[in-house]
Amino acid sequence: MNHKPIEGFSKLSKQGKIDWLINEYLQGNKEYQNILKQYWNENVELQKLHEEFSENTVSNFYMPYGIAPNFLIDGKLFALPMAVEESSVVAAASKAAKFWIDKGGFKTTIINNEKLGHTHFILNVESHKLLHFFNFSLKKKLLEATEDITSNMRKRGGGILDIKLVDKTSEMPNYYQLKASFDTVDSMGANFINSCLEQFGKTLKQEMTISEEFTQEEKNSLQIVMNILSNFTPDCIVRAEVSCKMEDLKDDSGISPEEFARKFKQAVTIAEIEPFRATTHNKGVMNGVDAVVIATGNDFRATEACAHAYAARDGQYRSLTHCTIDHDVFRFWIDLPISVGVVGGLTNLHPLVKFSLALLGKPSAQELMSILAVSGLAQNFAALRSLVTTGIQKGHMKMHLLNILNQLGATEQEKQHFVTYFKDKTVSHHEVIHEFNRMRGQIN
Ligand code: MEV
Repeated sequence: MNHKPIEGFSKLSKQGKIDWLINEYLQGNKEYQNILKQYWNENVELQKLHEEFSENTVSNFYMPYGIAPNFLIDGKLFALPMAVEESSVVAAASKAAKFWIDKGGFKTTIINNEKLGHTHFILNVESHKLLHFFNFSLKKKLLEATEDITSNMRKRGGGILDIKLVDKTSEMPNYYQLKASFDTVDSMGANFINSCLEQFGKTLKQEMTISEEFTQEEKNSLQIVMNILSNFTPDCIVRAEVSCKMEDLKDDSGISPEEFARKFKQAVTIAEIEPFRATTHNKGVMNGVDAVVIATGNDFRATEACAHAYAARDGQYRSLTHCTIDHDVFRFWIDLPISVGVVGGLTNLHPLVKFSLALLGKPSAQELMSILAVSGLAQNFAALRSLVTTGIQKGHMKMHLLNILNQLGATEQEKQHFVTYFKDKTVSHHEVIHEFNRMRGQIN
């Protein structure tokens, strides 16, 4: 069926939008309306709050909100809030936390904390002339012109750290950047940075116009292409690590600590040199990072983009985590570039985000960076631990069992039967279906 485009969808009421969807895309079947409506919150104010986070909202999309307890981070115990739909992520995090709790827990260090943004512009001048103008006049003007925008941030201890002129003309004709670094304290700072950069664009134009250093032709060649923060923040890095004597790496699968350490390190090295494995390896890291990023109201697309750009910073995509065994000491760590906030955005609006931040003891942005890196490292530890011992499917399929049973419409009593049935067996989709049919008397 060919669908018709619509003008003014955003102006329709919520019911109007649903009616249109049902008529245009869902063959007029009103049943679909109930699917959307069953997720509306009875609390009208709360529903309205959620609807106003985004545009054209017709329902709420739930994700499980779970807790991974027992995380010892820099000597303090945390229960991590995790919003994630994938079964076994929270269980894996909890297992890793428990493993490290009696081995000193996780240690973190903020390596640096700078955010970046650029004014990208085109200008047909000699580079040295532009550099002279930047150093002796423009830079000061850019800082002065943004004083109003930065005043609150400066009071909180942040602001613009530096502005540089970058010559990119060897890569694209007449292309330059104003590259600015920022300290945004406890906010992620996207609005702050973009406001500063937009002002840079305007000031650059104004200062060029009145400058006597350039010819009219040179002035006319100026084009401000765009002013935008960069989600790649290689100078906003947190390190999280665990270490212990090799002999303490006891695993209940029966493998010796030495063999465990050796295989674990090999698995990390493979992810360091092999992009196909590194992608899955880092996906597992981000299972842990993103679940806490989402639960704390931060932007998981930004954290994903940044982590993967960092993983490919030398031209090849590599593991975000690393491992050494030195004098019988096992060490496993992550350097994670991550830009997050604990003020602004959803943090003061979304009730569950407020809950998450309260649960974490109202962390600063840097403390949250530490927690996120730990969550990623723990998740990766749990995945590699399974991979080099029992294999991943044992744990995964146990957690997935409930999903399969729910799809089959199993009753609570039937679910209980399956938990007992698979206690000492490996869960497989085929085996669940077979046992389900047998139990319901459909086969012998
Ligand atoms: C699954 O979501 C993540 C893993 O594949 C990660 C890994 O292989 O390291 C288990």
